[in-house]
Amino acid sequence: MAQVKASIVGVNGYTPDYILTNKELENLVDTSDEWISTRTGIKERHILKEPGKATSDMAVEAVKGLLQKTGTNPEEIELTICGTVTPDTVFPDTANTINLKIGASNAFGFDVNAACSGFLFSLSTGARFIESGRYKKVLVVGADMMSSIVNYEDRTTCILFGDGAGAVLLEASENGYGLEDEILRGDGSGRDFLIMKAGGSLNPPSADTVARKEHYVYQDGRPVFKAAVKGMTNTVQEVMQRNQLSAQDIDWLVPHQANNRILTSVADALGFPMDKVMVNIHKYGNTTAATIPLCLWEWENQLKKGDKLILTAFGGGFTWGATYLTWAYDS
Ligand code: UT7
Repeated sequence: MAQVKASIVGVNGYTPDYILTNKELENLVDTSDEWISTRTGIKERHILKEPGKATSDMAVEAVKGLLQKTGTNPEEIELTICGTVTPDTVFPDTANTINLKIGASNAFGFDVNAACSGFLFSLSTGARFIESGRYKKVLVVGADMMSSIVNYEDRTTCILFGDGAGAVLLEASENGYGLEDEILRGDGSGRDFLIMKAGGSLNPPSADTVARKEHYVYQDGRPVFKAAVKGMTNTVQEVMQRNQLSAQDIDWLVPHQANNRILTSVADALGFPMDKVMVNIHKYGNTTAATIPLCLWEWENQLKKGDKLILTAFGGGFTWGATYLTWAYDS
């Protein structure tokens, strides 16, 4: 029997209406549009402001549109995987809340916590369920409400992050196109450089941890920057080599959007011209697990059946990797 391959059969995204511009950030912290634009490439980011709304609400918006686009009944969904570091609650997980809200009454679900690599790791996990032959329709979501863990008094982090959600539907490939190969890594070496220090079992939340602002994202940017360029470049190179691919063979590089200087360094090192690199960081900032599906959603109309894509990410952990896939449909 031929091996089952998982393919993406649809993608959709959602970003909240409120736009937080660099100009507005100038009023919150000691920064400037010029510094943010030249050091990161970010001009604005979308922020979920409505009281009572959370990560699952953005994910649900993305998934509802996806089900509509692909003509899928929510009861056909068998599994939902949600990559996120900002779950609605520490537990229960967000994937099951998504299932409840969309009416996926025959599904199970779980979250994947891999920071900015959350979508890649979730995609890999979802693909294995399809490849097993037992599951026919798997939702893979990347969603983060970073504004819920960002300190808007810390200029080193508050300028970077935004809120958003993206989702893909995985099915068994009917035409031979789909997820081809991947190299994923997570070694814990950089855990102190990008971390939310309190709220887990090591530092349970308390008045003291809140006073020390340990419930917010902490990042030491420079070591993360260096490791991100190295980690993404190396895994993309490795996955290309073992599939006998050169940069000319690849139609699109889809990198996690953390910093425009990281994207251009990776593209340069790999010999990719920037017109083959998906970049929308200027509009959304770093939406953590949502950046890659938001790119696929934005470029969906330009993607053609058989196009070769490499997705790559790097994030807290450190976690990182590269996934090679062939696009399975014309829009
Ligand atoms: O998505 C997960 C993975 N995350 C990443 O990949 C992020 C990786 N890191 C980065 O993107 C960059 O390191 C940052 C954008 C976070 C920072 O850029 P940088 O070029 O590495 O700046 P830096 O941290 O070396 O700081 C340079 C200067 C410092 O001032 P001094 O010490 O030279 O006087 C900072 O205090 O820039 C200052 N600075 C700012 N100035 C104006 C830091 N943040 C700001 C700011 N506005 N928002």
